[in-house]
Amino acid sequence: MKLPPGARFPTVCIHAGQTPDPGTGAIITPIFQTSTYVQDELGRHKGYEYARTQNPTRAALEGNIAAIEGGRAAFAFASGMAAIDAITTLLQAGDHVVVTDNTYGGTFRLFDKVLRKYQLEFTYVDTSRPELVEGALRPNTKMLFVETPTNPVLRLTDIARTAEIARARNVRLVVDNTFASPAVQRPLLLGADIVTHSTTKYLNGHSDSVGGVVVLARAEDAEWMQFIQNAAGAILSPFDSFLVLRGTKTLNVRMAQHNVNAMAIAEFLMTHPRVTNVIYPGLPTHPQHDLAKRQMRGFGGMISFDVGSFEAARSVCNRVKLMSLAESLGGVETLISHPATMTHASVPPERRREIGLTDSLVRISTGIEDPDDLIDDLKQALG
Ligand SMILES: Cc1ncc(COP(=O)(O)O)c(C=O)c1O
Repeated sequence: MKLPPGARFPTVCIHAGQTPDPGTGAIITPIFQTSTYVQDELGRHKGYEYARTQNPTRAALEGNIAAIEGGRAAFAFASGMAAIDAITTLLQAGDHVVVTDNTYGGTFRLFDKVLRKYQLEFTYVDTSRPELVEGALRPNTKMLFVETPTNPVLRLTDIARTAEIARARNVRLVVDNTFASPAVQRPLLLGADIVTHSTTKYLNGHSDSVGGVVVLARAEDAEWMQFIQNAAGAILSPFDSFLVLRGTKTLNVRMAQHNVNAMAIAEFLMTHPRVTNVIYPGLPTHPQHDLAKRQMRGFGGMISFDVGSFEAARSVCNRVKLMSLAESLGGVETLISHPATMTHASVPPERRREIGLTDSLVRISTGIEDPDDLIDDLKQALG
């Protein structure tokens, strides 16, 4: 089948990048579990030589995600961190990067503990404030690395405004779109140059694969990314490519339900006497609710809420029955976590305080179960 020009988002999710297998008519792209390809004669082959360089299952996924994000090309990697690492190979020693201060801890660890060894410089600022982004730029700034919404305090960065700042100074804008997913926001259409995802989360959506992807708008960046994917070799496996490709087919309907469930839970938590604060971009009380309405289509599945004390947070996390106490996010099943002692334990306490990550904060990755069952579970867990 051929995607009609102007096909809409759910259609793109299901069909882009894929054609029925020419040999058998199989509608689903097979798992090409092979390391090499037989060549017709010396110097003549079917476009596939060695599976680190080219794999049809991975190529189908890459075409699919490029179309979903509205990019020129996409490249799939062995994890979200491998994808971010590949992006940083666009830099050279002596370059400077401005980064969202409340970025994913693994991203901070890569930048701070590994890449500084190679004379790359990083400045961490609250990118929700454009004046701080502008103030942090230097003559050697080559990249702006933004996460929106952030984890776990769900602070937003205005992507279109930040893209203007980046363009004026010839700086690449990279957006880690893992938390929102492309069903909720598409940064390339707002002016970003590069989007990255941990496909481990919403793109795969079923908590059964680890992977990452880089989607690029500029031709020269796409060319480099293809080169580095082969040169460094941190490719996504054929089986994981198959799983994520299956996941993206239902991305739009899953996200629609994540959005509905998260809003219902956030509204319930707002009314609960034991809850002192609820952070969700869909609530009018969120300080950037207007930006969320402008920039996002739905408000995503992530919620954080404060229960006043560490003991109360521990009690909620331990008492849930339907929800599972676990790190990660973006699956169809609801997960609950305690950021201060789990995902963000490596962030120094004073830094946690600065960004509003209290010891009494609980995070939920809302799944797509019946929202009333999830609310019942929270009711009993909150006592
Ligand atoms: C926002 C964000 N970016 C990147 C990553 C890294 O992805 P992975 O765990 O697939 O390496 C994560 C993982 O939690 C994340 O939350």
